[in-house]
Amino acid sequence: MPAPPIKERTPIKDLTKVFHYTDTMTRKPTRDDDPYEYMAGFGNHFQSEVIPGTLPAGQNNPQEPRFGLYTEGLTYSAFTAPRHANFSIYMYRVRPAAAHNGYKSNITHKSDVENCFLSLNPKVTTLAEQGGWTPFPLPPDDEKIDFVDGLHTLGGSGDPNLRKGITLYVFMINADMDRRAYCNTDGDFLIVAQLGNLDIQTEMGMPFLQPGEICVIPREVRFTIRLGLGHKVARGYIAEVSGSRWELPDLGPLGGHGLANPRDFLHPVAHIDDDLQEDWEIVHKANGQYNAIDQDHSPFDLVAWHGNVAPYKYDLTKFSSLKATSIDHTDPSVNCVLTAPSRDPATPLADFLWLGPRWDVASNTFRLPYFHRNSATDFLACLYGSGLGRSDEFLPGGGSVETSHTPHGSFSEDYVYEIRSQVNEPRKILESLSLFLSSILSSHPSLLIAMSSALLDEATRMKTSQRFLP
Ligand SMILES: [Fe+2]
Repeated sequence: MPAPPIKERTPIKDLTKVFHYTDTMTRKPTRDDDPYEYMAGFGNHFQSEVIPGTLPAGQNNPQEPRFGLYTEGLTYSAFTAPRHANFSIYMYRVRPAAAHNGYKSNITHKSDVENCFLSLNPKVTTLAEQGGWTPFPLPPDDEKIDFVDGLHTLGGSGDPNLRKGITLYVFMINADMDRRAYCNTDGDFLIVAQLGNLDIQTEMGMPFLQPGEICVIPREVRFTIRLGLGHKVARGYIAEVSGSRWELPDLGPLGGHGLANPRDFLHPVAHIDDDLQEDWEIVHKANGQYNAIDQDHSPFDLVAWHGNVAPYKYDLTKFSSLKATSIDHTDPSVNCVLTAPSRDPATPLADFLWLGPRWDVASNTFRLPYFHRNSATDFLACLYGSGLGRSDEFLPGGGSVETSHTPHGSFSEDYVYEIRSQVNEPRKILESLSLFLSSILSSHPSLLIAMSSALLDEATRMKTSQRFLP
């Protein structure tokens, strides 16, 4: 039999339309319009310099750093923590962060931030049932809302003070942070871009974020967020973990590769601001409280840095999905992109999951999730596409939550189709609706899940319920 003719493949450049990043047929590790350079890897020691030769050779803290720079250290663990848990960074900068004009409290802002989800906090309530939100409202045109003002807590559990907590936020912005930086001392932010491009500047460099990409900013690293060129609004989600760090999950019998591959995580290279002499405000979040630091110089003045703590980004369209090839619905843990361990070895603090375009293959199997009462609390959001088709909370920019042990499962039309179709052939699923974030806030049923934001609670919250049982 003659070999079939070579089939030409056409590159797809719109990442919201691809089945996988490789459909772009590019060798570039970033999307075409990403303006920045990155270093690839996960958990490495990285080093980067704007001016070659700035990093001291053979030592960290020379008597005279080159160019009259200051050495500044930032640690994330006890000095004596074991190597695998010992995180720090050395920065070589024009002025140390300690050069400022003091802290000021009671700053005015329009955000609604809550980090304490203990039952003694009267500002939060426990959500015992399912909940859902239509797309979170974007700021009105006549009001300028930057990231500081546009950040809202949706829920969470624990407390950063206990070094065990997670907070879930949404942000809706229509303005750049103007000589204003954000410093979060409570936990590591995992930022998920949903709408609009984000041009993020951090002390270690510039990650550019587009819908379907995520960015982790370690606590205490200062950053500022601007809208990408041509974008007037942006919306996204943030999962913040306290007392933990986002890690790649173990792969067990899967072997050494698959799911999120380490080389697809991209760290920014060193970058220095053009104008270092301007006045800046550093908005400082500690225990969910805002203070601000005034200073007469840019916080983004690093000429070089090295260490094993730095912001990084990841394109979820690169996720290498793995699933059952014979029978049954595989547990959703197989979609884990990053996990944040807790002190309980059997229960992570949080898992960040990807649910995107993939082949669905199984014989004699009800392929939808079976009805369940899981110990984990799930938050799901559609980043782009047409949603899950179940109801409005699955439209891009909305969200839904199922708290621990809330009974739930498949819904009417999908259920009927699945039972009647008796399909045994492979099929592509989630093609049109693309990527989902599923953040399991906590799989510990005794922890509180709380709703705190009046804006989100009143304007958009819907109660969902099981609408169908045959
Ligand atoms: Fe579920």
